[in-house]
Amino acid sequence: MIDKKKYILSLENIRKTFPGVTALDNVTFRAEAGEIHALVGENGAGKSTLMKIIAGIYSPDNGSIRLGGNIVEISSPGKAQSLGIGMIHQELALVPYLTVGQNIYLGREPHRYLKAFIDWKKLYNMAEEQLGALKLEVDPKTFVIDIPIAQQQMVEVAKALSINAKIIIMDEPTSALTDKETRILFGVMRSLKEQGITIIYISHRLEEIFEIADRVTVLRDGLHIATSLISDLSQDDIVRMMVGRELGDLYPKNTIPQENCILEVKNLSSGKLLKDINFHLNKGEVLGISGLIGAGRTELARAIFGIDSFDSGEIFIDGTKVSINSPGEAIRMGLGFLTEDRKEQGLFMGMSVRENITIGVLKKFSTFGFPSFRKLKILAGKFIKQMNIRTPNVNQKVKNLSGGNQQKVLIARWLNLNPGILILDEPTRGIDVGAKAEIYALIDRLAGEGVGIILISSELPEIIGISDRIIVIRQGEITGEFTREEVTQDKIMQCAAAGGRYAS
Ligand SMILES: Nc1ncnc2c1ncn2[C@@H]1O[C@H](COP(=O)(O)OP(=O)(O)OP(=O)(O)O)[C@@H](O)[C@H]1O
Ligand SMILES: [Mg+2]
Repeated sequence: MIDKKKYILSLENIRKTFPGVTALDNVTFRAEAGEIHALVGENGAGKSTLMKIIAGIYSPDNGSIRLGGNIVEISSPGKAQSLGIGMIHQELALVPYLTVGQNIYLGREPHRYLKAFIDWKKLYNMAEEQLGALKLEVDPKTFVIDIPIAQQQMVEVAKALSINAKIIIMDEPTSALTDKETRILFGVMRSLKEQGITIIYISHRLEEIFEIADRVTVLRDGLHIATSLISDLSQDDIVRMMVGRELGDLYPKNTIPQENCILEVKNLSSGKLLKDINFHLNKGEVLGISGLIGAGRTELARAIFGIDSFDSGEIFIDGTKVSINSPGEAIRMGLGFLTEDRKEQGLFMGMSVRENITIGVLKKFSTFGFPSFRKLKILAGKFIKQMNIRTPNVNQKVKNLSGGNQQKVLIARWLNLNPGILILDEPTRGIDVGAKAEIYALIDRLAGEGVGIILISSELPEIIGISDRIIVIRQGEITGEFTREEVTQDKIMQCAAAGGRYAS
């Protein structure tokens, strides 16, 4: 018999279905006080669903939840909070047009004069303290919309900490964090652990799990596969349990770039963000752009794609000088840009998978202005199959897909437009290992078809694994360029880090 008292939290035989999907089937999950318990599994395995049950967002169809040995019903997020459970969501859930401080204490604002007024001074003082604990240098009176995603993610962390939870769930907190912020977060996690707080930690970055977690639970297709001490497992063991099969080569590379240049950027400068950037991209080439987050990589992509204007410089496509003043123009010239922030800039969450995949080609599949839904459905179906998007059918709303599968929908939309030049900004953020391998294979295949690909990535193994050539950007300047043969992680790091030097 299991000693259920040993566990601060235990979920037994949890079942949760959605129309057409069994998200969790007979899952048991037990966490001890003061442990960091990692939860891993492929995209769609059921991780977020299980956590949302603990956080009072979903109620299970079946099964029981115990806190400190007592059966509890967690009927709402408010109830979860009052039971000492806080959750940091995978998709940021902050209100963009409220301030950082308002977001942290939303619904829990301190009052004065018998609840008649919000005590703003107190609220902002408290917020400042929470942010200080996370070494986050941001004024709590700033609007959330005005701070970068990495900082928004840290505000989510501050919010979860501010309720003084006994159990904190972190659903992929680091996917949008810089390395520096990840370090800070890990420091905070260690000190929470010392205070006896339990952290349930979801991440697709297995190295992180080995660094920070005590135990790990693996889910696959809604089933509990294993729970084990992290020290008893290797990364390969975890991957095998996650995907249920041996993974082949993660970074397939079968193609070589062609000779003709399809994109050239000359002397591009924009304020302090970009300084005299020069580079070219060949047909069928994968050009990696490395650098620290905030170095100017996304700004460069935005400038090329016509989102932001720049002060000086020239862009040539297929040898012809072009001026791109809007994303619409960029698309007409054969460019595609997968942005790093899928929720804000990419997906239509309330629309179906089919609508999201085919939105760019509606015209092409219409007769006299009427779209052929049959053809669009077939087309969407093709991408769902090709990219292994887990959805019960093409009509499922995108907001109901798991995070990684949402990302695949967005990639499918761009592929549908057949771009000749495709810019991918952190394309595998939040994507599981199996799906990563699929995306890398896809990049290789597109390159083989002659598409020029610019890959912006913070993951060094990824950028080294699939790029033909890599340029490194630091503080808006190109500080290094390497071919596939000569590049190493060290060389990139030297060029990327502030105070680094040019490598030969
Ligand atoms: N509200 C919902 N309505 C319908 N289906 C849902 C809903 N929420 C989740 N699902 C489905 O349940 C399954 C499990 O999803 P879940 O979000 O828990 O996966 P996950 O393990 O968190 O994946 P990821 O790593 O991509 O975030 C998926 O098939 C998903 O599409
Ligand atoms: Mg999830």
